[in-house]
Amino acid sequence: MACVWALMVVVQVVAAQGMGVNYGTLGDNLPTAGEVANFLKTKTTIERVKIYDVKAEVLQAFAKSGISVTVTAPNGDIGVLRNMETARQWVVSNIKPFHPETKINYILVGSEVLHWGDSSMIRGLVPAMRTLHSALEAEGITDIKVTTAHSLAIMRASIPPSQGSFRPALAKRVLGPMLKFLRETRAPFMVNPYPYFSYNGKNVNFLLFRPNRGLYDKYTKITYTNQFDALMDAVHSAMKALGFADVAIAVGETGWPSLCDGWDACSVSNAQSYNAHLITHLATPKGTPLMPNRTFETYIFALFNENQKPGPIAERNWGLFHPDFSPVYDSGLLRNPQVTPAPAPGNRNKWCVPKADASDAALQANINYVCSQGVDCKPIQPGGLCYAPNNVRALATYAMNAYYQANGRHDFNCDFSHTAIITTIDPSHDKCKF
Ligand SMILES: *[C@@H]1O[C@H](CO)[C@@H](O)[C@H](O)[C@H]1NC(C)=O
Repeated sequence: MACVWALMVVVQVVAAQGMGVNYGTLGDNLPTAGEVANFLKTKTTIERVKIYDVKAEVLQAFAKSGISVTVTAPNGDIGVLRNMETARQWVVSNIKPFHPETKINYILVGSEVLHWGDSSMIRGLVPAMRTLHSALEAEGITDIKVTTAHSLAIMRASIPPSQGSFRPALAKRVLGPMLKFLRETRAPFMVNPYPYFSYNGKNVNFLLFRPNRGLYDKYTKITYTNQFDALMDAVHSAMKALGFADVAIAVGETGWPSLCDGWDACSVSNAQSYNAHLITHLATPKGTPLMPNRTFETYIFALFNENQKPGPIAERNWGLFHPDFSPVYDSGLLRNPQVTPAPAPGNRNKWCVPKADASDAALQANINYVCSQGVDCKPIQPGGLCYAPNNVRALATYAMNAYYQANGRHDFNCDFSHTAIITTIDPSHDKCKF
């Protein structure tokens, strides 16, 4: 592990303020909650954790840590939370002992109830959310919001994104009333989008934020360059169809496993590509094509590899960290107290350029991708200082390097589906400065 740690310190930390993680505890080798709180606070830029219960030990450990905690009332508590008296008791025993020393942001009522819950839980969900909100107020707590997280099984359609819609039976009876409650209480609608579940071998670049042909939405004429944005916009379209486009969206879970049962979807490099790109993607208030400039509070799944999770191997390998706190890969969330300042322009010593055998088609795809990602491509447009020589390779060299420099110079930002390589030779020419 020593060599992994050594690599970490040379990697520049991206500004990933506000990133959250899901802190699951289904392992027999995991550190104590106190150790976890201390690790997150001192060694990472993670600012929020989400837990799948209301474990006193965890809530205690995060007191005065500066890290906020989202807790979950188990599905089995929905009945209790529907009744004002028992809901108040629930608040008194589970929340009050830790509030406000522990910053509790949200209480989630159940976990993917509309996917996994029985019909009485589904019927009781919104009433339980409303009652819990009132119970908190009755106990004098006004800074904890109530919401719940949904799997994307609530969607009837999500392609193309502008035509996204909820399953009709849920839309009318549950999601409409829920969105009304969330708007009234200014709480976010929380979804768990997993591009991983759409993996089919051919769409890997689209899922992993790598250069790709994209997904064209003929209704909006927007080309999506990644599945995460496409899923978020599908959810947005479904909310809009019900009249709730203004309600904030939060991401309760998303992630990618680093190991599974011989399926090529899972690898350290794929998991790193998804999570590290996602974190960079969310670090700026860029939003999505249909939600420009919006931010999405996001919780990566998951903090640790959990060795006691049942099911296929992948289930035990979603973690950003091993139980000994060593990173499974560099996700960009480690804090580096000795961050070397970014070299001043003109004083850089690494550049990202096309490999000799990269095809013009691949390089053109790289240009299209980079220039759709908010990188300034004006220098390679007509009249720009880097427009000459006007051939695909020269223009791609500028674009790919600009992307690499703009995203913190991580090695994984100079991959471009294996068409790129890092060089120490400055490709600047004439008045075109790289
Ligand atoms: C998004 O932010 C940019 C830059 O601040 C601004 O020019 C643009 O009008 C904003 N768009 C929306 C829809 O708010």
